[in-house]
Amino acid sequence: MQVLDGKALAKTIKEELKADVDAIRRAAGKIPHLAAVLIGDDPASQVYVRNKVRSCEEVGFRSSLIRRPDSVSQEELLAIVNQLNDDPDVDGFIVQLPLPDHLDEDAINLAIDPRKDVDGFTPVNIGRMTLGLESYLPATPNGIMVMLERYGIETSGKEVVVLGRSNIVGTPMTVLLSRKSSPGNATVTLCHSRTKNLKEHTLRADIIVAAIGIPEMVTADMVKDGAVIIDVGINRVDDSSRPRGYRLAGDADYAGLQNKVSAMTPVPGGVGPMTVVSLLMNTLKASQRK
Ligand code: GUN
Repeated sequence: MQVLDGKALAKTIKEELKADVDAIRRAAGKIPHLAAVLIGDDPASQVYVRNKVRSCEEVGFRSSLIRRPDSVSQEELLAIVNQLNDDPDVDGFIVQLPLPDHLDEDAINLAIDPRKDVDGFTPVNIGRMTLGLESYLPATPNGIMVMLERYGIETSGKEVVVLGRSNIVGTPMTVLLSRKSSPGNATVTLCHSRTKNLKEHTLRADIIVAAIGIPEMVTADMVKDGAVIIDVGINRVDDSSRPRGYRLAGDADYAGLQNKVSAMTPVPGGVGPMTVVSLLMNTLKASQRK
């Protein structure tokens, strides 16, 4: 089995980005600036945002982190978004999800200026992506596309099953994989919690993208020999033998699948680092906007 090493690939791409940033700085004296908004102290979100900020530093971007407690009001968060929209110094920004329950995630998303929406979550960018127009592509699906391309995994004419229909992964993933481009041109089936006979679908798949948030749900009996598994899940599973009391598990049963599949992403170190790289690529693009 080939391990699809997102961590190593992200490192390579970050070196390429750093060279681009150096050239831009020499030519224009300007460097890309990403701002991240983090609400509350969800441990996983803190780790993700820290990785994003650290990656900005690695490639020579500027970054700003704006933190507010769980108790922040909708009005205050909207004011932060509007300030970032108007700040000529900020090229792009993200509001880390999920937000606490009392906040209206849709209203916050709708308030983000699509020109600064480097997560690619706003209706304008989702619509433009769907029409095949220039846009900021959502970070995780685009990171997966970059990974498939760089690893030379053929998608044209292949059967792909996407597990999970979230707005930020599953749904845009189906758009990118089925569009007329390379990678793309796949026949895509989107499965979700109401799908009947899930196994009938997954057994047909040449490529499975698992983004369902259920630890080790994709097992060897559900997968055909030689399939490719892209595991988006990052689940904390209680494990008292570990120093932190938990281990990280993907949506796929890595150990059980190893001898059956042709290629698979590990968790951690697979899709996660590619998401970050994709965000950096969007930020670089934002900084070059006139
Ligand atoms: N939460 C999980 N993934 C993401 C992401 O790609 N962007 C943001 N903003 N929040 C997330």
